[in-house]
Amino acid sequence: MQSLPLLSHYIQQAQAKLPATVWHYLQSDAGDGRQRNANEVAWQALKLMPRPLQTLHHANTVCEMFGERWAHPILLAPVAYQRLFHEDGEIGTAIACNAQQGQMMVSSLASQTIEQIIQQAQQPLWFQLYWQGDRARTAVLLQKALASGASAVVFTVDAPVKQSLMDLPEGISAVNLAQALAPRPITPGQSNVFDGWMSQAPTWEDVQWLRQQVKVPLLVKGLMHVDDAKRAVDAGCDGIVVSNHGGRVLDHTPTVTAVLPQLVNAVGGQCKILVDSGFRSGQDVFKALAMGADAVCIGRPYVWGLATEGAMGVAKVIRWMRDELEMTMALTGVSSLDDIRQVDLY
Ligand code: FNR
Repeated sequence: MQSLPLLSHYIQQAQAKLPATVWHYLQSDAGDGRQRNANEVAWQALKLMPRPLQTLHHANTVCEMFGERWAHPILLAPVAYQRLFHEDGEIGTAIACNAQQGQMMVSSLASQTIEQIIQQAQQPLWFQLYWQGDRARTAVLLQKALASGASAVVFTVDAPVKQSLMDLPEGISAVNLAQALAPRPITPGQSNVFDGWMSQAPTWEDVQWLRQQVKVPLLVKGLMHVDDAKRAVDAGCDGIVVSNHGGRVLDHTPTVTAVLPQLVNAVGGQCKILVDSGFRSGQDVFKALAMGADAVCIGRPYVWGLATEGAMGVAKVIRWMRDELEMTMALTGVSSLDDIRQVDLY
């Protein structure tokens, strides 16, 4: 029995177990750690009002979206190469997700095949799509995911320039990709960013193209600006994931907490609004729902559990966050996710 709170215990254990390079890859952000920390601090800074004496014995955290029904609104964000953290890898995460009656987004950079992951999960999972340089190659990956039974596609658009690729150990790779994506070779005098990476990055026209290819729900992950959220809705997307990638891509962005209300105001009701970056407790989850989000996603916290105890660790993190969400509902006097959306924050 650990004496520290669950997440602190898992952080310590994960750091002790993982090689320093893998720990750094997991924890790192685009700068010196402040960007990741800013998300966490911003959620913690919002305050909750106690509301005792409500009748809550029929309360629940059921979340419904796109015809799916989960026991709670805590989704697992896509995280690449999960066999780096534990031999259970993505399959362990998927089994935990199913055991906790939730949903997970399988990364384009998964280290096990999407077919195996979905098969072992015993439920349809969502697939996170990274653009593969052009439409033909992207279509191949997409068709593989859809043929495997992906029930939604989450198109991540905020990381067209890769800054920190770590050297993968022998035996771990993005097994679902026909070939790893690298910047287009440049000639002397050209820019590695513009002529290299950005010459094969997706644009809004590609989002429209993707919309035509994808018959299941399509979400765009990595939007922070109101105009981009509106544009995603105009392109026919079913949802957005408000995210600054856990602070890992562009340094000095606003926190998601700072922009979420504007996006809810602009496109709430027109598409589903999910949010990630910096969720470290059930109270944080409650606050995002109170701001109008339909569900949240967690990244690093479940990986700390995975690194420590494999599938069991992931399951415990989800259950612990759900327990905290339930306790927060009990203490603030609300009985459903819809009721949380009526709550004022302080
Ligand atoms: C990520 N993230 C990510 N996102 C994505 O769309 N595809 C991916 O393959 C990955 N890979 C990845 C690896 C690692 C090690 C981390 C930590 C994150 C981003 C992820 O989905 C999510 O946006 C953030 O992790 C959310 O922030 P927190 O919960 O980690 O603070």
